[in-house]
Amino acid sequence: MVRIYQAEDEGQMSRQAANLISAQVILKPDAVLGLATGSSPIGTYRQLVEWHRKGDIDFSEVKTVNLDEYLGLDGSSPASYRFFMNEHLFDKVNIDVNHTHVPNGMAEDIDRECRDYDRLVQDLGGVDLQLLGLGHNGHIGFNEPGDAFENGTHVVELTESTINANARLFARREDVPRRAITMGVGSILRAKKILVIVSGEDKARAVRDAFFGPVTPQLPASILQLHRDVVLIADRAALRLC
Ligand code: GLP
Repeated sequence: MVRIYQAEDEGQMSRQAANLISAQVILKPDAVLGLATGSSPIGTYRQLVEWHRKGDIDFSEVKTVNLDEYLGLDGSSPASYRFFMNEHLFDKVNIDVNHTHVPNGMAEDIDRECRDYDRLVQDLGGVDLQLLGLGHNGHIGFNEPGDAFENGTHVVELTESTINANARLFARREDVPRRAITMGVGSILRAKKILVIVSGEDKARAVRDAFFGPVTPQLPASILQLHRDVVLIADRAALRLC
């Protein structure tokens, strides 16, 4: 079931999402949070950092698993998702860095890295709350449109649409890696709760098709309709076509 909350704007969306995450951590201080990158969660992380500074949220026992990482970038590269997470959240709160997990884009044996990542999530007891953004083509994590839903962590070829959308974070478009490692839709669906945040008019079509259209691997986020506990927080602009 998908519950939809309309926020006035991106700021309100971020605060509401941060409230749900902080409620999860209050309920279960050692919660496993599934985290996302991209522009969408930046405001949410900023809010969590602010509340942490005020003493309202404690990350000391929290564990995190990130959805995805570019292949060929290591954590010191500013465009890597490990760097992003350190910069926006991990370095600013009292989380134990050993409790933070991002797929290793530099792994020598990528197939093994994928299997190990799935096992890691399982060993942690699964994800309690998975935060997700939404790509323009309906991708979640880096699960791009395709002929079938992919279950576990795997390597993907990024689509031109995703490369174009993410090129803003690189010095040159040619620098955007063509491949990435991502948790599969199965891994995402196994989370106990899923929180999707979307803002902006440019995502309106993806929101409509994902949550009000047929469930199809051509629009990976549409599978979220089959999960029992999804909260979508979207701003007015992103819900414009719904
Ligand atoms: C990237 C990430 C996704 C993210 C999506 C949307 O490709 N791999 O996890 O949700 O883009 O990003 P943004 O929030 O910047 O629009």
